[in-house]
Amino acid sequence: LSRPSKVAEEPKIRAKGRRDLAYRQQRTHSCWNHLLAAPLWPMHGVNLGTLLRTCDAVGACLVVPRRPWIPAALERGNTLRRPTCVHWVSGEPTDWLSSQRQSGARILGVELADEAIRLPDLSMARERTVVVLGHESTGIPPAALDLLDAAVEIPMIGTGQSLNVAVAGSLVLYRLAGLS
Ligand SMILES: C[S@@+](CC[C@H](N)C(=O)[O-])C[C@H]1O[C@@H](n2cnc3c(N)ncnc32)[C@H](O)[C@@H]1O
Repeated sequence: LSRPSKVAEEPKIRAKGRRDLAYRQQRTHSCWNHLLAAPLWPMHGVNLGTLLRTCDAVGACLVVPRRPWIPAALERGNTLRRPTCVHWVSGEPTDWLSSQRQSGARILGVELADEAIRLPDLSMARERTVVVLGHESTGIPPAALDLLDAAVEIPMIGTGQSLNVAVAGSLVLYRLAGLS
């Protein structure tokens, strides 16, 4: 008996190559000013670079304090070819949060808190939303917690006490953008 000859099968899943993805570089979004990721007390530049890429992916703006080391950190971490949307905060971050609140934005903290909404229960952002991210080791300062409309916590089942701030911010931004 002769064996059936092997027919070359199309792979079930084919990862997109550089050429397939090239069209993305033609499309850029300007400032939508709808979702704003705000790591207002940053310590590690690498997290800002990661957040900037997520912001680009979901159409969000990044809000950072005006500190001397931040422009270089963003430059290093930004592997995107197109300009990204960065808003700079001069002065106290809490003053900026208060002004955003007064202008009608929803202020949503990403933090481990008993009162927080769990990430799976978080709905897409229908209104302008500022996503506040905490300091890498001390979290969101108490004065800023008082300015939040709500907090969202990402459930964890491992032994770690918290997630990396850029990972936490990215998960929440995807959810708010309606992309996950
Ligand atoms: C490393 S954590 C801060 C540690 C922690 N708040 C503390 O004081 O020990 C840095 C930031 O990442 C975010 N984060 C990390 N894990 C999170 C989680 N499971 N849910 C929500 N936010 C989280 C929060 O914005 C937090 O302020």
